Amino acid sequence: MAKRTIVTLPGDGIGKTVLNEAVRVLKAAGFDADYVFGDIGWEFWCNEGNPLPERTIKLIEEHKIGLFGAITSKPKDEAANELKPDIRDKGFVYSSPIVALRQHFKLDICLRPCRSYRGNPLNFIRRGQGSSIEEPEVDVAIFRQNTEGLYGGVEWSNPSELVYQALMSHPRFVKNFGNTPIDEISVSTRIFTKKATERILRAAFNHAKKYSYKSVTLCEKPNVIRETSGMMYKMAKEMQKAEFPGIELWNTNIDAQMMWLTKNPEDYGVIVAGNMFGDIVSDGFAGLIGGLGFACSAQYNPDTGIGIFEPTHGSAPKYAGYPVSIVNPVAMIESACMMLDFIDAQDIAQKIRKAIAKVILEGKVQTYDMKKMKGSPDVIEKGVATTTQMADAIINEL
Ligand code: NAI
Ligand code: MG
Repeated sequence: MAKRTIVTLPGDGIGKTVLNEAVRVLKAAGFDADYVFGDIGWEFWCNEGNPLPERTIKLIEEHKIGLFGAITSKPKDEAANELKPDIRDKGFVYSSPIVALRQHFKLDICLRPCRSYRGNPLNFIRRGQGSSIEEPEVDVAIFRQNTEGLYGGVEWSNPSELVYQALMSHPRFVKNFGNTPIDEISVSTRIFTKKATERILRAAFNHAKKYSYKSVTLCEKPNVIRETSGMMYKMAKEMQKAEFPGIELWNTNIDAQMMWLTKNPEDYGVIVAGNMFGDIVSDGFAGLIGGLGFACSAQYNPDTGIGIFEPTHGSAPKYAGYPVSIVNPVAMIESACMMLDFIDAQDIAQKIRKAIAKVILEGKVQTYDMKKMKGSPDVIEKGVATTTQMADAIINEL
């Protein structure tokens, strides 16, 4: 394998800490790469009026692979107040750099695997027959369409006359909203295209085939959201029949799925959904395997080979300033493993995953979240592992 250059994008808060640890683990595991640092996040917003400078985009364009920590986002007005005085009132408007990266590089495939580690005290348990307690093994891969749908940003409050007239051309709009004054209406659209829908479905089926999952579950709401969810369901059925007859296609509604995932999570394999429902269902499953300290993700475009790998969690500002960091680095290290899978270094990824599994099974080294403690600087005195100690334990098992 040719030596790769990885663009590290630490961002803000704990993003910096966990990314550091992930790179240490990658190096210890024998992953031979060059690392270049990319500017992203709050500091660049405050100083330059742009949390995602053009030079960072260029770096990613060149090297294709980004390992991302987390960023801090704040509401528009608050963000404007934190700009350096000499660039205030110059028309800069804050928007999230991670969303911008997804849009700019058309990272339309988002994969969020949720796999339980044996011995993780945060694993979901349920009551079985009699007074027995069961700990179902969760192994789910959620494919979320990452660029369209309700998060596509096509929305209005007090829409223009043109938009209003378009809405009024729909009999349901006339019936249900036709008497509401325009300035009392807010509209967020949910646009699905065939092309993007086909791509996320195919990614999900291919993954199921490659990793021998028996089913792909479409998690939408086609009985109510007839056009978008309905189109996705129809296309899923056609694709399954024509290309993946060996894989079962299940269809669940997002609301029911959120109930079922605590009843029989072990029954699910690959799940595929639009942008918002994918976001929701992946958080639901992440809760079963330990929450934010364990939830990892990949976002990529199979055509360009550009991928950004990041933990699902944010910058957790309340833990960012600690003299010794206590947050769990596993989600970030797992995201780095997804990066390795993506660039065909699966052997190293598996080695790291095995080391994580060993540390968790042994149970001697646990971060505060795994001990179900409230985070505070003094948890360290109570025998909790620091971020660095957790990474060290993983490195020792490699
Ligand atoms: P958050 O994910 O940063 O933190 C929420 C809570 O989860 C933390 O207070 C902590 O209790 C726990 N947590 C998070 N990561 C953990 C870890 N590695 N180990 C142990 N516990 C962990 O979400 P929050 O507080 O809502 O947002 C903070 C900032 O992060 C905001 O500015 C938000 O906009 C941003 N954010 C950025 C994301 C990204 O970069 N992709 C995603 C989510 C939020
Ligand atoms: Mg989310």
